[in-house]
Amino acid sequence: KKVVLAYSGGLDTSIILKWLQTEYGCEVVTFTADLGQGEELEPARAKAELLGIKSENIYIEDVREEFVRDFVFPMFRANTLYEGLYLLGTSIARPLISKRLVEIAKETGADAVAHGATGKGNDQVRFELSAYALNPEIQVIAPWREWDLTSRTKLIEFAEAHQIPIAKDKRGEAPFSVDANLLHTSSEGKALEDPAAEAPEYVYQRTVSPEEAPNEPEFIEVTFEKGDAVAINGEAMSPATILTKLNELGGKHGIGRLDFVENRFVGMKSRGIYETPGGTVLLEAHRGIEQITLDAGAGHLKDSIMPRYAELIYNGFWFSPEREMLQALIDKSQENVTGTVRLKLYKGSATTVGRWSDYSLYSEKHVTFEEDAGAYDQKDAAGFIRLNALRLKLIATRNRRVAEK
Ligand code: ARG
Ligand code: SIN
Repeated sequence: KKVVLAYSGGLDTSIILKWLQTEYGCEVVTFTADLGQGEELEPARAKAELLGIKSENIYIEDVREEFVRDFVFPMFRANTLYEGLYLLGTSIARPLISKRLVEIAKETGADAVAHGATGKGNDQVRFELSAYALNPEIQVIAPWREWDLTSRTKLIEFAEAHQIPIAKDKRGEAPFSVDANLLHTSSEGKALEDPAAEAPEYVYQRTVSPEEAPNEPEFIEVTFEKGDAVAINGEAMSPATILTKLNELGGKHGIGRLDFVENRFVGMKSRGIYETPGGTVLLEAHRGIEQITLDAGAGHLKDSIMPRYAELIYNGFWFSPEREMLQALIDKSQENVTGTVRLKLYKGSATTVGRWSDYSLYSEKHVTFEEDAGAYDQKDAAGFIRLNALRLKLIATRNRRVAEK
């Protein structure tokens, strides 16, 4: 049996690697992705080699451009927020990891894939629904749901028994669980489990607190083409470069922090601390350019399907026909979402302060409070209101009649 493991190089996935070898007698292929988590990948290679993985079975890949171009940007075209607040930084990375696991399984003749998500969370669902959607025959091994290493002590004992190196600070309980990529850093569990208690400042890893942010605002311009950001301050950049740059700017100004209790797909509520600096700026900028380039009917329709689209991504249905159908609708809406937004970054907030586009629907001639030279006849509004009021008047009349009886 051969299995492709999503391998971070950390202690937990190293234990999983060894466990797959010893308990399942598996030949293990490791896949380590650079999603912009800000960690060196070469140590993961060295560690996989140390744990007996043949060099041809070690896959290390920089997938940052694919992540932003094919997953993050399509999602941002919809202004996607789960439960009104969460920018889905973890949720959107899982389908990409599964896609590569399944592809590598095919290349290496493996029959299974494995991941390090627990049996209590969303991530197991996302990894596995994606894998099955891409290969209905694939087998999935989720060690956290199977093994008896149910305490930190047992994990450490297993690691010691199998010569897995343990960093000093990993011997005790890590204070909370972290998942990071180019879009966000999320922290949950342990020290954060009481939703009544404010998260300590040390939890935050990639944003300064708004109080510590510069006292001077910074102005930037983001240019969009068909709904995707293509340039910052007039300089064209690749998708991953744009998000990297926006992360720097947002992080410096304390933008994109979120303390949030969400509903997991598996039924429970959980509390997380999220930092999405670049994504928060990007959402504001995208809304800014849509304000002048999107028709009202188109804009309201896409806004109305957004919560459903967000839920599909959160619940792990990226590779589903209904997500693709909604994506087609969203992408169609972006045909003229081209132009530039000027934003003010200041102490935790990103605010649109200007927007312009060759595709603008904004008509100063129509909207002006000054003389409009016949562009709009105010008398038309009287009949418009009269007909719209008709049914409201009928209801009010009926209610008065019934009340008087
Ligand atoms: N609750 C978030 C989600 O479901 C993040 C999950 C992973 N984060 C973590 N710190 N382990 O998308
Ligand atoms: C995990 O269970 O591995 C992290 C939390 C989640 O997936 O929701």
